[in-house]
Amino acid sequence: MSVPTLFDISLDRHGESPLYQQIKRHIITLIEDGALPPLTRLPATRQLARHLGVNRITVVTAYAELNAEDYISSQVGRGSFVLDRAAQRSAQSPPPPSLRDPADWSAHQFNREMMRLARRADILSFAPGMPATDLLPVEAYRRALNQVLRAAGSQVLQYGPVEGDPALLQAITAELRRFEIQARPQRLLVTSGAEQALALVLRTILRRGDHVLLENPTYLHVIDLLASSGIVVHLVRSDAGGICLDHVARLIQMHRPRLLYLTPTFQNPTGVCMPLARRQQLVELAARHNLLILEDDVYRHLWLGTPPPPPLRALSPADNVIYVNGYSKCLLPGARIGYLLAPTALYANLSAAHQTLDIAAGELQQRALATYLHEGQFARHLQHVRAAHRQRLQAMNEALLAHMPADTKWSLPTGGVFTWVQLPSTGPSATTVYVHALELGVTFAPGHLFYAAGSSDSHHLRLNFALHPPAAIHDGIRRLARAWANARG
Ligand SMILES: Cc1ncc(COP(=O)(O)O)c(C=O)c1O
Repeated sequence: MSVPTLFDISLDRHGESPLYQQIKRHIITLIEDGALPPLTRLPATRQLARHLGVNRITVVTAYAELNAEDYISSQVGRGSFVLDRAAQRSAQSPPPPSLRDPADWSAHQFNREMMRLARRADILSFAPGMPATDLLPVEAYRRALNQVLRAAGSQVLQYGPVEGDPALLQAITAELRRFEIQARPQRLLVTSGAEQALALVLRTILRRGDHVLLENPTYLHVIDLLASSGIVVHLVRSDAGGICLDHVARLIQMHRPRLLYLTPTFQNPTGVCMPLARRQQLVELAARHNLLILEDDVYRHLWLGTPPPPPLRALSPADNVIYVNGYSKCLLPGARIGYLLAPTALYANLSAAHQTLDIAAGELQQRALATYLHEGQFARHLQHVRAAHRQRLQAMNEALLAHMPADTKWSLPTGGVFTWVQLPSTGPSATTVYVHALELGVTFAPGHLFYAAGSSDSHHLRLNFALHPPAAIHDGIRRLARAWANARG
């Protein structure tokens, strides 16, 4: 029997993604698009391997993963058949009772649930702010890990220096120069993700009763980190160019805040990128009033068209910007490598606090990352990721246009991973739609989670446009639109 043309898979034999992953994704797309309906028999592994000119093990691995993720059922002697995922989904257990009542959701409860759902094969999740698993550089990182272990042996399995591995500090310093930041490695601290850098700064620099300015909406972990800390939070109004400086100026006059936290580049959750002129005015305003800026720049690498303006840290006339970045969004969230660049006056305190909290970030991961960065593979990886993101954002835009109700609005960001969607104000709220969407096997992040206490927002939702290939995006948004219609009743 010949292999149907549906399986004429064009394989990228020199790309980052292993061949078995490419075959697996292709088959998932066929299943999700309905091109391979339930009970369809897949070609035998030997036959498909011959057809594609790959080793049979490659196809066996792809089928094994499809089997493990319940896309197909493979039985020795009988072959592999497409499973009925809709029927499976309706047989799945319902979501935990706490999540059925949106009023119960706290940020960390939602986060834990979001990460759990993102790992489930029967749910298409647009919720988490993580990079797409199919774009992670598995082979290149495996080579870097092996190289480090072979060259350095047990030395890299020991505790490392508190400030970070010297090779990685050098690599970060070189990267910062490309962002127009002239940094000395002696002002850098490598942390366990950007998350730890943020926690370290907020806990070390701020005291009970201090006043802090936050964008509104903003990164929900920072809202959580400041909750019940005795720190007084003031919310700054934002528009299409980021935070409004007249409002910042007014809040400075009224409250003399110690620190402003913001993500000026491809903000979470709105995707907004602050233009250069506003950045320049902001750093001048902050320098004049001795306001510390905590700049979170974790989405910087993920521009789509042209690179964003330089970070605030590069533009500031004063040494008052704490710069935080890392390698989770652009490369490897699981390696947990972030860093902060501290003003001279704050470095010693931050370094001491880091030592108490964590001793040091993982040495093996740091050295492997330094090796990977050193070999120039990062630039190629980013090109590959940006090309995929451009396609995925286009697919998201087309799917929202095609399926969502007429009065829905959304942002088309110039980078990062988020589309910020506003549902029609006369229809159901985002939390009501969430419950219906979960029943149809799709999730997103409801917008109210990103507003600090006291604010409410019921019709926004955050979608990660970068997580899935175009066919899955279309399928997911079709389901989301159905969930909206079901919620409206
Ligand atoms: C704005 C922002 N900052 C920091 C982080 C945490 O990054 P990491 O995984 O490096 O700890 C995230 C992750 O979602 C984020 O969105």
